Amino acid sequence: MKLDRRKFLNMLLGIGGIGGIVSIIYPIVSFLNPPKSAEPKVNSLKAGLNSDFPENTSKILKFGRKPVILIKTGKDQYKALSASCTHLDCIVQYKQDTKQIWCACHNGLYDLNGRNVSGPPPKPLEEYDVKLIKEEIVVTKLG
Ligand code: FES
Repeated sequence: MKLDRRKFLNMLLGIGGIGGIVSIIYPIVSFLNPPKSAEPKVNSLKAGLNSDFPENTSKILKFGRKPVILIKTGKDQYKALSASCTHLDCIVQYKQDTKQIWCACHNGLYDLNGRNVSGPPPKPLEEYDVKLIKEEIVVTKLG
């Protein structure tokens, strides 16, 4: 009877040990192999009313997971560009005084067509199409 109790305790300790090892290894394996999550497909986005958007201002939109900067450059005139700096993905901002797009991370500058004009950004910002449908601003992914 004493031997049976020992075997039983050893079996319990073995199960606990295996459980402990699994509880350590499973999160590591899960971290190294994350589940594939589909990025939400967004091809078009309503960005508000034209009359509510002052000239020479901007706002950042969420285009799926991608930030897009929408700039009202003049009366009924807009530019929409990727807001992720092409250097290291910082979010860019619109400089009203110089009418340029600026990345504060490393002082990168883009013009209103998204062309990288100074600083470390290696390539232009991706451009989006902007249309006014009645009063609504609609931003659409190109290509
Ligand atoms: S991340 Fe924009 S300039 Fe470096």
